Amino acid sequence: MIIAVDGPLASGKGTISRAISQHLGIPYLDTGSLYRATGLALIDAKADPTDADRAGELAANLDIDAIDETRIRTAEAGLVASKIAALPQVRDALFKLQRDFALQPGGAVLDGRDIGTVICPDADVKIYVVADAETRARRRWKELVAKGQDISYENMLAQTLERDARDANRTDAPMRAADDATLLDTSTLSIDAAVAEAVRLVEMRQPA
Ligand code: DC
Repeated sequence: MIIAVDGPLASGKGTISRAISQHLGIPYLDTGSLYRATGLALIDAKADPTDADRAGELAANLDIDAIDETRIRTAEAGLVASKIAALPQVRDALFKLQRDFALQPGGAVLDGRDIGTVICPDADVKIYVVADAETRARRRWKELVAKGQDISYENMLAQTLERDARDANRTDAPMRAADDATLLDTSTLSIDAAVAEAVRLVEMRQPA
């Protein structure tokens, strides 16, 4: 069973995807981590941030087992990820890795921006997770501050709006709900309630 979970930053898609993965006992891929790691690789290489071919090359050579989970979870890594994710060279380089992950025997859960539309248009279940921008910015701000990162709520809200606009307006695989996705608004839901609703959506599609 392939489960596609898309949505903007801090909508709750990661938490929901991990819960579905555990519930079904199938692997989970956070595809945002691939774009974050590519962006950091570009910074580490001191490459021109607009050098699309170099960014594509770095994406193609990404070692997913070597991704530094702490380093990619900063607001800066999120911003650079959103920028390089607009480059077709990067998206093309990361396509096969994501597609192969989805097609492994037994299926998988993938979350991102274009899973239901581009990577897995054939997914068995598609969920598009949303929440209002202020709620999402506050969630992410609290997470980052709890990890000791120095960022204001106002800055986080500005970054949220900037990334939403860039992710949704790029030409190549923009962030959007697939026509056959179910919308899940987590603005006023607790984590438990959001997870329960997502699991219910999956259960509805599972063969008896
Ligand atoms: O989900 P995230 O915040 O970790 O994603 C970081 C950035 O990566 C996001 O702003 C846009 C990009 N991204 C993408 O373009 N397509 C995906 N499937 C996942 C992430």
